[in-house]
Order: sequence, then C-alpha cells, then structure tokens
Amino acid sequence: MVDNGRIDPWSSDQSTDYEKLINQFGLESVDSSIMPNPGMLHRRGIVFAHRDLDIIIESINSSKKFGTLTGLMPSGKMHLGHSMVIDQVKWFQDQGADITVAVADLEALATRGTSLKEGRKTAIEEYILNYAALGLDPDSTSVYFQSSRPAVQRLGFNLGRKTNLSEFEAIYGFNGQTNLAHVQAPLVQVGDILHPQLEEFGGLRPIVVPVGIDQDPHLRLTRGIAGKTNWFNIKTRKSGGLVISLSIQEDNSRAFGINENGRIDKDRRKNIFNSIENILIDLGFSDISSNEKHGTLDIPAATSSDKFPIRLKLLQLERDLGGMGLFPPCSTYHRFVVGMTGSKMSSSKPETTIFMDEDLDVMAKKVKRAFSGGQSTVEEHRRLGGDTTKDVAFQYLQYFFEKDDNYLNDIKRDYESGKLLAGEIKQICIDGASEWLLDLKEKRNQWADRLEEFLSPDSL
Ligand code: TRP
Repeated sequence: MVDNGRIDPWSSDQSTDYEKLINQFGLESVDSSIMPNPGMLHRRGIVFAHRDLDIIIESINSSKKFGTLTGLMPSGKMHLGHSMVIDQVKWFQDQGADITVAVADLEALATRGTSLKEGRKTAIEEYILNYAALGLDPDSTSVYFQSSRPAVQRLGFNLGRKTNLSEFEAIYGFNGQTNLAHVQAPLVQVGDILHPQLEEFGGLRPIVVPVGIDQDPHLRLTRGIAGKTNWFNIKTRKSGGLVISLSIQEDNSRAFGINENGRIDKDRRKNIFNSIENILIDLGFSDISSNEKHGTLDIPAATSSDKFPIRLKLLQLERDLGGMGLFPPCSTYHRFVVGMTGSKMSSSKPETTIFMDEDLDVMAKKVKRAFSGGQSTVEEHRRLGGDTTKDVAFQYLQYFFEKDDNYLNDIKRDYESGKLLAGEIKQICIDGASEWLLDLKEKRNQWADRLEEFLSPDSL
C-alpha cells in the first residue's frame, strides 16, 4: 500500500495507479522504443515501468554479458500472479541472461515465522518445480538459499555501513517496535541483488531484477547503497558531454592519492587520471580535459549513450584498485493482474486466482464465476459489446493463456463488437487455461526428480 508516500513491500495491498507510481518514485515508463523485437511481455503492456533497462537492452543488442536475478518468498502456493515474473525471467534468459534465483528463506523466517526447513521444502517442491515447468533452462539457472550463502550475508552486512535507521524508517516505515530480524531482511535482499556481480558469482556485469512494484523500496535502497560505494561518478555536464568525478571515501583515499595529512599525492593522483584517460582513449574519445586537483574529467563529446560503456570500464578500474565495483541494479515492474472476482488477486483468497496445480473443474468454476465485462442481457451485449478492460477472462487470455497475437485481437474485436458473448469468452479462457494447466502438469512430472539441476552447489 502506498501510504505517506511509502510502499510497504510486506503488504499484499498495492496501488495500481501506475502513472502516479511512475511519477512518485521516479521510474521510467516503458514504451515501444525501449524493447527490441518486443516480446509478449511488453507488447501486452505487462511491464509498465523500469529503471535503467536501457543498459540491459544495450547488452542484449551488443551480445554483452548480463544477468537476471529474482527472489521468491517460500510460503503458500504458487499461482498465476507469481508466474508473471517468471515469464519475464524466461524472456531475459532467452535473450542471453544468466539467471540467479534467491530463495528468501531468511526473509520468510523474519517476516512470517516460516522455519528454514519448511521454507526449503516449499521453495523446492512448489516454486522451483513450477519455475522448471514454466520453462526456465537449468543450464543457466542457479537457485540458492539466503541462509546458506555466506557471501550474500557478508555483502549485506558490509553494505549496512552505507545506510542507517533513519533511512529504513523513511523507506519502510520501521519504528522502535520493529523486530530486528525484520530490520535485517532488506540488507539481506541488498546482498541478494548485488552478489551476482562478485567474481565468484559471475563477475562484473549489469543485473536486471524483474519485480512487482511492491519490491521497489528494496531496489531504491540497493541502488542508493551501490551508488554510495562507487569510486567514480559519471554525470551529464550542463554544457553538454559527460563529466567523471572521483568519489573520495575512507576506503579509497589512499588509492586516490590523499595522504594522511590530507595533502594530495600528485604522482598517485596522476596515475589514476592516466588510467581513466587510457580507458577513454580506448573507447575512442580524444577530447578529454582533466582537472586532477578537483578530481574531475570532462568529456565534452560524450553523450548519455556512452555512459554505460564508460561506467563498465570504470567499475573494472575500481575493482583493480581494490574497490567493490558494483553496478546499481536495473529493474522492471509488471502490472498486477486483476483477481478473478474483480478485486485484488491474493493467495489467501483462493477464489481470486488460479493455482499452478489447480484442478480443471475448479478452474472452470472460477472462470465461470469470474468478473465479466459483458452486458447484463444478451440483447444489450449484442448492441453495446463487452468491455475487455474489465473482463477477467479476456485479461487472463491476454496475460497468460493465449500466445497468438492475431487470435487475441480477433477475440478482442468480436467481444467489443458484441459478436462474442460473455459466456463464450469465458469458454475460450477455460479452454486456454486447461491447455496451460495440463502442459504445466506434464512438465512438472518431467522435472520432479531432476530439480537438483537448478540448485547451486551451496544449496544441495
Ligand atoms: N522480498 C521478495 C518477496 O517478498 C523476495 C526476495 C528476496 C527478492 N530477495 C529478492 C525479490 C531479490 C527480488 C530480488 O517476494
């Protein structure tokens, strides 16, 4: 819920005023210019916003390495709503991403009291099994548990130095009554999101995290923290071009040529600037003006599209000099699909959703009772047509069950013109859902005893 300008990531009650969310939290909206050969996700308006997705698209277009990270709360049963993120993860995987899946067993313990043992069972038997059935490729997927990856906890702990309680209060609304396990959970998630960039988990590369808007507070926190650790900032110059500036911190003051007495060690400083200049020359820039004393370098001819390659090299330089060299995460935000009853979709209200292993008869009953965009009488429906923006059956076909754009457009046209009746569109939805559920079931059977293929060595 957005309250006092805040989003509570642990509440299932989220705002769906997407325009407002974009403005309020400084997201970029997704339009047709951002996606290459737009996949179904974008074409159908499933992803409505992003942060720095351009970097990922650029990586895809230039065949550069990038990763995708997703996390799951191991509680309850997996349903349609959960599959939206996995469809995106699969899309990124098809575009060349390596996939890391965090099982948030520590978070589930902290916020829901789920034991680690219980969390593990649910994660594997319910979530990972269905992720496999939804088509993730185990060859480039690695599932781990928060509780059994010390590097994640270490990173979270370490980066905790870059934030404080006031920031947690502002972002999450934590107060004196908040239990400390809950306070720790966001830092573990920061560790989840950033650790794939550590050398032992794939090294420096951009990571995209597809989420629902409820997770954005964690992404804002992570981006802020990663930015604070960066040794080099890249900004747009007022007079055009880009400017690189050294961000002097405790950890890097020696490397940046600041002596104990606060004086600048000119040789050391010169070395740093030489390294940066060489990087820029390699990237094809010749007009560079350095101000070593101020710790800035101007590149008048650079444009914002040069930021990504420059940043990548500077993060590598930072690593060579002993820094962490972390990319702030990229992210995408999907819309929340309407629940079957017309209100929110929630796993605690089974009538509002379809579970991944739903019995076909139960599913059919739910669809038949689902909120309809049809008119109240056949006569009226023929005259006025149905409303696809409200019709659950249509939206589920659009988001989940019907992959063929042309057929979907025919359905839309016929429903809106009144040719197709509400009962008929529901039947089409039932047919699509049956096929989808049966396929998932078959795939679950195929994968059930091969799930270790998805698990990382530290999760076995
Ligand atoms: N907090 C997420 C949830 O409630 C789970 C999660 C943990 C996660 N780590 C993550 C999600 C990293 C995305 C990225 O569902």
